[in-house]
Amino acid sequence: MADCHLDAFPDRPMSLMGPDWLEFLYRHYMQAERGVSIVAVQDSQPVGLAVGGHPDLLAGFRRAATRRFPVKLAMATVRSSVVRRSVLASMTGHFRKQASVLPPDEPGTGSLLSICVRSDFEGQGIASRLLDAFQTASAEAGFSSLRLSVLGENTRARRFYERHGWELRPINGSLSVRYVCKLERS
Ligand SMILES: CC(C)(COP(=O)(O)OP(=O)(O)OC[C@H]1O[C@@H](n2cnc3c(N)ncnc32)[C@H](O)[C@@H]1OP(=O)(O)O)[C@@H](O)C(=O)NCCC(=O)NCCS
Repeated sequence: MADCHLDAFPDRPMSLMGPDWLEFLYRHYMQAERGVSIVAVQDSQPVGLAVGGHPDLLAGFRRAATRRFPVKLAMATVRSSVVRRSVLASMTGHFRKQASVLPPDEPGTGSLLSICVRSDFEGQGIASRLLDAFQTASAEAGFSSLRLSVLGENTRARRFYERHGWELRPINGSLSVRYVCKLERS
């Protein structure tokens, strides 16, 4: 799953932290009681994934990863301006500021943290099936709606979410936009 993430998001801050960090991230979500994880597998290898769950899982991961990899995090913060911006944003209340612009999560809202497909498997409908399965599993886990954030410039992903009926919620002053989707329990 870490390899899959590295292939799909080569320049994003989590990828710049390296495979150990990503392995720790996906383990955190897969082992969490309130996590939802769907993996597309071919020849015993993950080729795509959709992972998320309760929104608090991300803050829990950040705390655990900071304890687990203090030196790696310090080095990456010094070496990479992308990682530095991301770490500073989470430490300086950028997210609190965003939260004041955004409506607070309604109870029952889950988060889609990450959906990706390895580049050599794109365009075959794998992400569509992952998203459908993620929505079904989230509804079964008791979530009534989902949200996600994506870079505003990621037009392919945005088209993909919109085709699947997700609704846009712009975030003032952010490079990212948010999408939301209501879930129906079958
Ligand atoms: C965005 C992403 C998840 C889409 O994955 P995907 O598996 O290629 O998605 P799908 O195949 O389900 O649909 C994508 C395209 O393939 C087409 N398609 C769907 N099923 C198909 C099939 N059986 N055969 C050929 N093409 C197909 C769709 O029409 C769609 O066309 P589009 O170019 O207009 O979007 C993938 O490009 C990715 O991992 N990107 C990098 C990571 C990322 O940006 N993630 C989202 C941000 S959090």
